[in-house]
Amino acid sequence: MAPILTVEDLGISFGSNHVLKSVNYTLEENEILGVIGPNGAGKTVMLNILTGMLKPTKGKVSFNGEDITGKSVNERVRLGIGRTFQIPRAFEKMTAYENVMTGGVFGDGLSERQAGDRAVEILEMIGLSEKSMAFAGKLSLLDRKRLEIGVALASGPKLLLFDEVAGGLTESEVSDILAIVQRIKAEGYSVIWIEHVIQTMLKGTDRVLLLADGRDILAGLPAEVMASEEVERIYLGVKKSHG
Ligand SMILES: Nc1ncnc2c1ncn2[C@@H]1O[C@H](COP(=O)(O)OP(=O)(O)OP(=O)(O)O)[C@@H](O)[C@H]1O
Ligand SMILES: [Mg+2]
Repeated sequence: MAPILTVEDLGISFGSNHVLKSVNYTLEENEILGVIGPNGAGKTVMLNILTGMLKPTKGKVSFNGEDITGKSVNERVRLGIGRTFQIPRAFEKMTAYENVMTGGVFGDGLSERQAGDRAVEILEMIGLSEKSMAFAGKLSLLDRKRLEIGVALASGPKLLLFDEVAGGLTESEVSDILAIVQRIKAEGYSVIWIEHVIQTMLKGTDRVLLLADGRDILAGLPAEVMASEEVERIYLGVKKSHG
């Protein structure tokens, strides 16, 4: 089967800051690809290029075999690319239910009724059913991370882009997120998951990509990549304090 996502020779510079020099990888259908790399390596920038928020200086992004490099954010959402934000972005004065429902109405053109039905299913999947009427701004960090995933699911994506959905959580909270991602995988979604938490990379992903020096340094099985010389060299002891 053809990959769901292909990234070829992707590069981006901000003035003289050459953040991505040449990034190449593919994502298979129903695969969960973890992305690691030091702070400032360009992980979020890469995600922003995939969503269309940033235009690359060079290179090509294909989704389901179609060149989407020139497509807008909204076109990509309609094609089936959903994302979360590193800093949760839910509307604080709306309930969890309303946040997810709004995602279906604006992200997928559903009627309020259809979006409401979908929101009920999603809230169940992310473990927020009991707090569906709570205001997003009153939720704990774990629940706001759940809600971020829920809003990303609301637009009916095939590919999900997660930016540190486990960041800042305790070990047991990370397990809750891992369980949600497993459910998402079982439902057939494909996921690119940026994370610093090593536990999530080892347990939650099929493959891991190391992004550093503007390049895809290494990709492979999670345990192999995490134990590699390249990770050791690039994280230089930072590795353990993150995990
Ligand atoms: N819109 C922008 N304009 C100019 N420079 C930017 C922009 N967005 C990001 N950068 C720069 O790109 C580099 C990579 O940033 P990015 O946020 O992608 O890192 P990251 O790998 O996600 O790091 P972290 O692990 O801390 O989240 C940084 O040097 C940042 O200052
Ligand atoms: Mg980032």
